[in-house]
Amino acid sequence: MQRIAMLGGGFIGRFYADSLHGQRSRDKVVAIYARREETAKKFADDYGCSFLSTNMEEVIAHPDVNMVCIALPNNLHAAAVELCAKHKKNVVCTKPLGRTADEALRMMQLVEEAGIFGGYLEDLCYTPKFLKAMDSVRNGALGRILWAKSRETHPGPHSNWFWDKEQAGGGCMLDLGCHCVEIARNFIGKDVKPVEVMCWAATQVKPIEAEDHAIALVKYENGAIGQFEVSWTFRGGMDLRDEVMGTEGTIWINSFLRTGFEMFTTGKGADYVAEKAESNTGWLFPVGDEVNDLGYNHMFTDMFVSAEEGRPPAETFYDGYIVNAILDAAYKSASTKQWEPVQLPVWRGREGLTQETTLTEYDADHYLIKQEMTHDGRNKLILKEKATGKIIERDLA
Ligand SMILES: NC(=O)c1ccc[n+]([C@@H]2O[C@H](COP(=O)([O-])OP(=O)(O)OC[C@H]3O[C@@H](n4cnc5c(N)ncnc54)[C@H](O)[C@@H]3O)[C@@H](O)[C@H]2O)c1
Repeated sequence: MQRIAMLGGGFIGRFYADSLHGQRSRDKVVAIYARREETAKKFADDYGCSFLSTNMEEVIAHPDVNMVCIALPNNLHAAAVELCAKHKKNVVCTKPLGRTADEALRMMQLVEEAGIFGGYLEDLCYTPKFLKAMDSVRNGALGRILWAKSRETHPGPHSNWFWDKEQAGGGCMLDLGCHCVEIARNFIGKDVKPVEVMCWAATQVKPIEAEDHAIALVKYENGAIGQFEVSWTFRGGMDLRDEVMGTEGTIWINSFLRTGFEMFTTGKGADYVAEKAESNTGWLFPVGDEVNDLGYNHMFTDMFVSAEEGRPPAETFYDGYIVNAILDAAYKSASTKQWEPVQLPVWRGREGLTQETTLTEYDADHYLIKQEMTHDGRNKLILKEKATGKIIERDLA
């Protein structure tokens, strides 16, 4: 059983607690740290915590606590990890791990040197749809993964600190791009090195210093491409979509606005619909079990089973650091308008991969380009002659 200290009693701290105390869970949030007494008090009342404090160290060091869950603004993650290392408390940290790769790397090293458990709470890599998609990718149903695209756009975050570049570390690219980067990395293969990034980012709408839109391409050593699209000004709710393309198949996942649940209401009895839904009248797209569909349940199960079995979870501090490194390169590219290398002072995956051959043998003299049945009943082959390089057509009987 995990006896958890929640650091942060805000939006995600409460989502996490809903997941941790959901169904017949064995795990318990026993202590809460919040900046304000009233936030800590309300959280403790709502979730039955026996200890609350506005002193972070006191909560981490509390003898009842064996797992710390960081749900604080981005600029406080590193300091919280430092305290967990000091008090030798296992820790799981929300996304993004750091504001930069330097910060994330330091956090990873602190955890490893202290010999404590470190889990990266990347919930969107634990949604039921994502887990099923990953099974299909792993068993080869899509062949070699060529392209993985992830999109997260919504009308913007709910607290002031997100909009302040210093506290948040960036704009929508860091906030939402971190999910997208890790989703694509999983599909392409976490042991495949991300090599360079090309990015466009702009502040199109909000009066802020950071970007409120970004699109980027992440090139991997084996030739695969990751792509992300993020926005803090998208209207119409939270759009979470992934597309994966391989040599043998395709997956499209729509995680939020189209979950298979559509509803119309005139507004009578209007209530909460789903995270960042902009309306509760007219045609709506509710989510059946938000805490589960956003991955929190599967995520905490993996984290805590891994901690109890003494093995790393599927998403580690190392993964959080790689994500930060990719995003650092994206920020650099957005300003230089060039492909920028991903700087990875620590890399634990494969090295020296090259793009696999794209040639499919048809016979001794030809490569196959394509076979297609056309509407006039022909069964056509398009072939490339090995000797001449000429591309020819042939009808099969
Ligand atoms: N899907 C996800 O995984 C997801 C979703 C939302 C937020 N997050 C992450 O969770 C973290 C917290 O985000 P949130 O949405 O819960 O924020 P929030 O503003 O709703 O809550 C932050 C909480 O941190 C505490 N806090 C301590 N010091 C603070 C300070 N100086 N300023 C503000 N709050 C302070 C407070 O208790 C506050 O309630 C961020 O790192 C964010 O990126 C993750």
